[in-house]
Amino acid sequence: MDVAYNPYDPGVNDDPYPVYERLRSEAPIYHNAELGFWALSRHADVAAALGDSARLSSDHGPMLDPGAWGPQARTYLSFVAMDPPEHTRMRAIVSRAFTPRRVAALEPMIRQIARGYIEEGLERGTFDFARDFAAKLPLDVISELMGVPPSDRADVRRKSDVLVNYDPDGKMSDKGLKSLLSLGEYYASIVADRQAAPRDDLVSALVGDGGLSVEEIVAFLFLLIGAGSETTTHLLSAAWYWAWRNPAQRAAAFGGAIAQWAEESLRYDTPAHGLARRLTEPIEWHGVLVPAGAKVWILIGSANRDESVFPDPDLYDLGRDTSKAISFGVGRHYCLGGPLARLEARVALEELTKAVSMDYDIDQEGIRRTVHTNVRGMLRLPTTVTPA
Ligand code: HEM
Repeated sequence: MDVAYNPYDPGVNDDPYPVYERLRSEAPIYHNAELGFWALSRHADVAAALGDSARLSSDHGPMLDPGAWGPQARTYLSFVAMDPPEHTRMRAIVSRAFTPRRVAALEPMIRQIARGYIEEGLERGTFDFARDFAAKLPLDVISELMGVPPSDRADVRRKSDVLVNYDPDGKMSDKGLKSLLSLGEYYASIVADRQAAPRDDLVSALVGDGGLSVEEIVAFLFLLIGAGSETTTHLLSAAWYWAWRNPAQRAAAFGGAIAQWAEESLRYDTPAHGLARRLTEPIEWHGVLVPAGAKVWILIGSANRDESVFPDPDLYDLGRDTSKAISFGVGRHYCLGGPLARLEARVALEELTKAVSMDYDIDQEGIRRTVHTNVRGMLRLPTTVTPA
């Protein structure tokens, strides 16, 4: 039977890897006419397509969901939904503020936040690793980076949830739209504050640069939350879960292989699962001509399990070479927050291995995954821990 792939199918959502394997071998360019997309699944095709931003445009945004795909995407996704020259201009301005120095300076704060949540978890014994730890840390870090005071952070978390959670038909609910608008107003108030009284934070640096309008800065703050928060959350949960499932790898992780733990989790259960692009001209893949204007769905999740690049790809193995994993993208849109994500993962995993005994447990039945196509990971991960 011909391979069928529907990313909204709950079975595919639970475990997409068997269908990816079939796509790679039987239909390396796959057309889903009903949902209106073409899919690329082989590592070589994924890497080449992401690197070819002239023919595979980002101007409709990277989201597969119909409600989020279109020329309006840039209003809340900023420059990840732009092509040159606008992308080049915005990314250059933001990069001047998002410096390695500013990222490195966050380490003590990240450690302090991580310790606080780990202590709370240890006191309770049983807690939700995804909700109570992995979701809170990255959003707090971004809030800190932006200058959102601690008293407003829970509110920001509630409102930002809708950015990555759509209704099953791919549309944002009215309630979601309302909280998005109110988050936009809140961010605009932070920008206005920094215009009046600059501090040593990212928003002040963006305001001070003078190259961006208030709307452009607010859109970028949305992008930071959308791109930098949930992805890092899923990386932390994936590391915790897959180490639990693989005791020998867990021993290596708790023995100090922290960087490998993060990198293999990024490859194995990759959070930025797929990216959409719009073809600016017809392209032929594997003998099939895909027309100009087509929506192409580029499956990073499949590329990272491609057997031609990663031997035994379905094995979770901290000892493997992960250098070819595409977890942070390729080319001009390569993740701007990669170093921050890696720093957060290192600090969080270091603190966990210091404070928590390695015989922690997970309630497999209680796990809930996202039902979202671009970003994939765990929303619920009940765990039981004891002190190290
Ligand atoms: C494990 C965590 C993360 C993963 C897996 C991830 C993955 C990605 C990927 C695949 C892209 C490319 C998008 C495209 O080509 O359309 C991207 C872009 C981006 N990421 Fe990340 N990311 C992570 C964390 C972060 C963090 C922590 C931040 C910032 C706080 C961040 C900020 C961005 C930005 C601003 C872009 C847009 C870059 C551009 O369009 O030029 N990301 N990310």
